[in-house]
Order: sequence, then C-alpha cells, then structure tokens
Amino acid sequence: MTSHLKKVELHCHLEGAAPPALTEAQAQKYGIDISGQLRDGAYIWHDFASFLECYDKVSEVYKTEEDYALLTETYLDELAAINTIYSELIVSPDHGKRIGLGADAYIAGVCEGIRRAREKSGIEARLIVTGERHFGPESVIGAAEYAAKAGNPLITGFNLAGEERMGRVADYIRAFDIARDAGLGLTIHAGEVCGAFSVADALDAVRPARIGHGVRAVEDLDLVKRLADLGTVLEVCPGSNIALRVFPDFASHPLRRLKEAGVQVTISSDDPPFFHTSLEREYALAAEAFGFGDAEIDAMTRTAIEAAFVDEETRRALL
Ligand code: ADE
Ligand code: ZN
Repeated sequence: MTSHLKKVELHCHLEGAAPPALTEAQAQKYGIDISGQLRDGAYIWHDFASFLECYDKVSEVYKTEEDYALLTETYLDELAAINTIYSELIVSPDHGKRIGLGADAYIAGVCEGIRRAREKSGIEARLIVTGERHFGPESVIGAAEYAAKAGNPLITGFNLAGEERMGRVADYIRAFDIARDAGLGLTIHAGEVCGAFSVADALDAVRPARIGHGVRAVEDLDLVKRLADLGTVLEVCPGSNIALRVFPDFASHPLRRLKEAGVQVTISSDDPPFFHTSLEREYALAAEAFGFGDAEIDAMTRTAIEAAFVDEETRRALL
C-alpha cells in the first residue's frame, strides 16, 4: 500500500495524460473521427512509432485555450487526489501551433488549469517545454526559443522528446544552449528506445541535470558509474517501459539495479492512460514489483523534489 505516501512527478506529457473519456468527449464536440486511435476506452497503438502517431492525433482534439485548461486541471486534480504535492508537466508548444491555437494560447490554457487545480488542492506544478525530435531540429530550436523568451515563471525546464531514433543529441545542441542561457533546467529523453549510446550522447553533448528514462544505460556498466558519479537524476517510468516493451517484464527492469549502483532515480508515469498506468500505480509498483519499502520510496520522492526545476523557496516548502 503506497496510497498514504506523499508523491511527486517529474515526467508526464500533458497530452499523454488525457483521460480516454475526455478525449472521446472532445472528439465528439468537434466532430472528429478518433476511432483509429481510441476504442472501448483505450488508446490504440502497437509499437513506439505508432504510439507517437496516436499521441499526435489524440492531441488534435484539444483545440482551444479552455480545452487545455480543462485537460491540465483534470490531470492535476487526479494527482492531488492521490496525495501528489508537485508535478512537472511536459508541454509542447508545437502541438499548440499544429492545431492553429498558437503557443501563447496553448500555454495560457495550461497555466489556467494549474491555477484552478492549485486553488482547490494546493498542488504545485511547473512546465517543461519540449521539442519533438520527429518534428525536426528547426522546430526543436523554435521550442527552445519560445521557452526562453516566454518570460513565464511557470516554464522552468526544457526537454527533448519524440522519436529517439531520429538524429543524435549533438544535432540539438543549439536548442539546449538557448534553454540553458535562459536559466531553464535541462532534461533529455534518452536510453528508452535507443541503447546506452544514447544516454552517453546526452551526457557528452549537453550533460543535462536529468534524463528522461535513461534505463538502458544499464547495458553499459561504465556509463552507469558515470551517471552515479555525475549525480544525473533519472526520471524512470517503469509502467511505460514495460508497455513499450523496452524490457519484457518488471523482473528484468533495471530500476533496482540502477539505484543500488548509486544512480539517483525517481518515479513517474510518462503517458499514463496510453500505458494503462497512473502515478498511483507506479508508486504501488515500486513497492510490489521492485520490493522497495516506504522509507526507500520516500527517499526517491525526496530526490525528485531536490531535482525539481523549481525556485528554492517552493522546494523548501515541498520538502
Ligand atoms: N512523447 C510522449 N511520450 C514519449 C515517450 N515515452 N518517449 C518519447 N517521447 C514521448
Ligand atoms: Zn516521456
């Protein structure tokens, strides 16, 4: 039982948290045929590429500032109900642009959703703007420029997500330079679909404070030691990794091995309904599938707070 534990989430894609029932209602509202992506209350995909395709299509039923406020409020309310005090949401201004809403209105809607949820439960949230590799390097630079210039105090981080097999991290250095110069925290999806080399790439090219997933670093023990020595924090999403068949089962998932090797690990849900999971389930899995006790899980939550892209006053209040 982990329901009593305080929870923190560092890695959840906003559109990836869209409840199927809400997506269905949105699709009906706009007369969009979503039957290829959503059936019987479940999102339909069969591998990483089709997951990304499904994700991008599902995003298209969230069209207005108010749609994004509702989506954000709904997810944060869900988190608050399971004792979550802090959430970092990965947001993609490019998705706002693709539906013709524009990045400013997209972010304004998300911020309004945060405000509404915070008013009810006190949950804190920050935004990590992401570039998507499969939209190309120019769009990733555009996302970084947007995050850097937005002057929005809730935007505190920059990420690189999407198709990990497209390009190398070095192709995106300019985007990370822009984000770093603007004082944003840096994290990169690596070592999820691609192997250890991808994590090494991220360290060599950018050396972010955190890595999204990073779990395939386990294929190279020198790299595991490097992560431990650098104190790089991994945003581990075990349910996502199993659903995407990064590992065949929880018994072969390296969360415990990485932790025991001294790597800083935290627990998140990634795209919860797409992967039939939730932050609540990820915490429960930490206990039931990985055998961590309450004190160890609390320590991972503390690691997440220490690694959060947030001002020191808010961090102190969370600890
Ligand atoms: N975008 C949404 N979910 C993702 C994931 N698990 N990996 C890379 N990009 C993503
Ligand atoms: Zn992710």
